[in-house]
Amino acid sequence: MKKIIITIDGYSSCGKSTLAKQLAKKLDYVYIDSGAMYRAITLYFLQNRVDWTSSAAVNAALADIHLEFMCNPLSGASEMFLNDENVEHLIREMIIAEKVSEVAAVKEVREFAVAQQKKMGARKGIVMDGRDIGTVVFPHAELKIFMTADIAIRVERRFRELYAKNKNITIEEVKQNLELRDYIDANREISPLRKADDAIILDNSQLTLENQLELVMQWVEDAIMEHSS
Ligand code: CDP
Ligand code: CDP
Repeated sequence: MKKIIITIDGYSSCGKSTLAKQLAKKLDYVYIDSGAMYRAITLYFLQNRVDWTSSAAVNAALADIHLEFMCNPLSGASEMFLNDENVEHLIREMIIAEKVSEVAAVKEVREFAVAQQKKMGARKGIVMDGRDIGTVVFPHAELKIFMTADIAIRVERRFRELYAKNKNITIEEVKQNLELRDYIDANREISPLRKADDAIILDNSQLTLENQLELVMQWVEDAIMEHSS
């Protein structure tokens, strides 16, 4: 069957990566979490006290950054490596969430990440989620999805994930972080978060994981049919 590129963009914590992983498993495609790349760059900048308001400092830092996704042989999950170190857990911390949107708005950072993401799509058969995947990284993708869900539901979903790891986290802290990130992501100058004209909107506020997979698999089949002829 013809392999396509599927892009999933949208607001934070609406379930993009969950859907992307479901699809990749079902279709035997490669899943790429573009947000993990921005998170890993943010981790490097924080660890090395890089001043991301200075182009020279950013360029010097990027020259020292090597990002790679590697499959965890035990879980089968794709995990983020920064300069050969597994940073999958570190990049999910709140301290990274607090700064990542500022770092991701930097021109040199976006150029660095987007160039690598474009290369990853060369062989098709991929599902990539993020903010600008359907608009900038793969403007010719065969299937583009723009995800959204009610803010209260998104906060609840992310809170549950973070609370399982850190009992000190508050729901208000999570809400503020999601709202701030959404605002910065949607209002930045370079490739802001927006729906591609040809993206299908998926509001999964009231959908279970099974319902959303069933719905989207129909869209995938339609897209494959449409692009096979
Ligand atoms: O999963 P979550 O919604 O928390 O976010 P993420 O996908 O891990 O992305 C973290 C941050 O990276 C976003 O809030 C954006 O600032 C940035 N990002 C971006 O600018 N462009 C992308 N393609 C992906 C993420
Ligand atoms: O990637 P993104 O930040 O958009 O969200 P995610 O990390 O995939 O999903 C956030 C949480 O929402 C996960 O714990 C999912 O299991 C949950 N979720 C859900 O409960 N119902 C859905 N229909 C989709 C996601």
